[in-house]
Amino acid sequence: MIRLDKYLSDAGVGTRSEVKELIRKGKIKVNGICVKDPAYKVNDESVEIEGKKVEYSEFSYYMLYKPAGVVTATEDREKTVMDLLTGINTKNLFPVGRLDKDTEGLLLITNDGQLGHNLLSPRKHVDKCYYVELAERITTDAIKELTNGVDIGDDTLTAPAKVDTISPGSIYLTITEGRYHQVKRMLKAVGNEVSYLKRVSFGPLELDPELKPGEFRPLEADELIMLTLKA
Ligand code: URA
Repeated sequence: MIRLDKYLSDAGVGTRSEVKELIRKGKIKVNGICVKDPAYKVNDESVEIEGKKVEYSEFSYYMLYKPAGVVTATEDREKTVMDLLTGINTKNLFPVGRLDKDTEGLLLITNDGQLGHNLLSPRKHVDKCYYVELAERITTDAIKELTNGVDIGDDTLTAPAKVDTISPGSIYLTITEGRYHQVKRMLKAVGNEVSYLKRVSFGPLELDPELKPGEFRPLEADELIMLTLKA
């Protein structure tokens, strides 16, 4: 049995103080009856908020469209991706992997440590696809090198990547690793430079075209199933 306010906040409805406010305002029903006490104990009762059933689960999963200008961290002196997650309980949430401050695109946010860990494991080879705008035209030699693996100054070459050319100055680059500044370093290694970078997919997840930079939404059930299969 847990307190109603904790139940609602764990379900991602809002912060503890936000859900307390909702309860006090009479917006919450338990088994069809309005409950105004945040300390009311619930277990597997049906909890509704303004007529909509609250789906409780231990873990939360969100897709965030990271904008440029925020850092991928849970805490920092600068604005972080977590500061964008307004109106939900962010306790224990963390970003899975990292996008540079100037990189945009899909970032998975969860409190499921095991899934996050698995998705980042090099052994899982999770595909990450980036839309890349380049300072110079892409050459066929560069494509060949990126596809075979390049020396970015680490102990080993990068794993083979996939290149889809969109125009002479833009490509989709799909990589399976997650090394520090990897895409920028790979393009540098082939004599080019990244001028704009956006992650468009992460494993089976594709950046939702309905999201604007800075917006987020919970994962859909089918997205979560595909992600769990990959992890
Ligand atoms: N590669 C980079 O260079 N930067 C990112 O943010 C992600 C991948």
